[in-house]
Amino acid sequence: MVAMAGETPTGQDAAAAGTANGPLSGKVCLVMGVANEWSIAWNIAKAMAGAGATLAVTVLDERAKRTTDKLAETLPGTTVYQCNVESDEEMAALGERLTADHGRVDALVHSIAYAPANELKGRFIDTTREGFQVAHAISVYSLISSARLVMPLMAGGGSITTLAYLGADRVFPQYNVMGVAKAALEATVRYLAADLGEQKIRVNAISAGPVATASARGIPGFSTMKGSLGDRMPMKESFTPAKVGSTAVFLASDGADAITGETIFVDGGYHVMGM
Ligand SMILES: NC(=O)c1ccc[n+]([C@@H]2O[C@H](COP(=O)([O-])OP(=O)(O)OC[C@H]3O[C@@H](n4cnc5c(N)ncnc54)[C@H](O)[C@@H]3O)[C@@H](O)[C@H]2O)c1
Repeated sequence: MVAMAGETPTGQDAAAAGTANGPLSGKVCLVMGVANEWSIAWNIAKAMAGAGATLAVTVLDERAKRTTDKLAETLPGTTVYQCNVESDEEMAALGERLTADHGRVDALVHSIAYAPANELKGRFIDTTREGFQVAHAISVYSLISSARLVMPLMAGGGSITTLAYLGADRVFPQYNVMGVAKAALEATVRYLAADLGEQKIRVNAISAGPVATASARGIPGFSTMKGSLGDRMPMKESFTPAKVGSTAVFLASDGADAITGETIFVDGGYHVMGM
């Protein structure tokens, strides 16, 4: 079985493990999409703090802000901003706050996705125009707008990483329009990588294995999907949310500075299996 989200170290542990000469020391990392302690974004934030980064994180609404403000107390120096990626005004305000508070961003992690619940059940052929548009606006377009937002703050180059899923390549019943959005997200990564290479900004995706988060639990059949994937992984014990964090650290580090336009699978090898 794959590990549960709670098996990663606490924020305190991760921060304590952080070192002044870690791979991200001296870097400002912006992690978008923390909802709670189970969020992949929070796992990545902890790993980045442990690697020496100064952190800024974003949340969708006031409820998530209250939760994340508490989490952030375990990672001293972390700033928490509220930003709905559907709002141009809130995105512009985020850019201004980042400029004022940090002056620059070295790495962006985009860990945001949404599709209306009625699109994540039944048949894909019944996808509504509105559901399709909402899923793509929040889960894909927001990567483009977020990249545009941090571009001026990455004067010396930088790294952008988003979160993909195997549902981009293969059919997972009921993942439906989100699978199509993830395929668009991976293509967006390649187009952005081509645009931003000259500015030394790299753009990559991590295709993560199943993690029991609030969003994932909203997908009917997620636990069956998680169980069957876990059983088929060649490296069964190796996949934990913390491994998504350590890969995000690597992609944000100078050691990854020749990697761009890639989708890197962090799923214990599940994606290579035929059956
Ligand atoms: N959990 C998994 O099994 C899994 C596997 C592969 C990829 N992913 C991807 O990882 C990313 C993070 O998801 P998660 O599983 O950590 O769930 P999560 O629910 O913790 O995170 C999703 C985040 O998206 C945010 N969001 C939604 N609409 C938004 C909006 N309009 N503006 C700003 N933020 C908004 C939510 O508030 C939340 O913080 C998603 O892209 C998801 O598709 C998840």
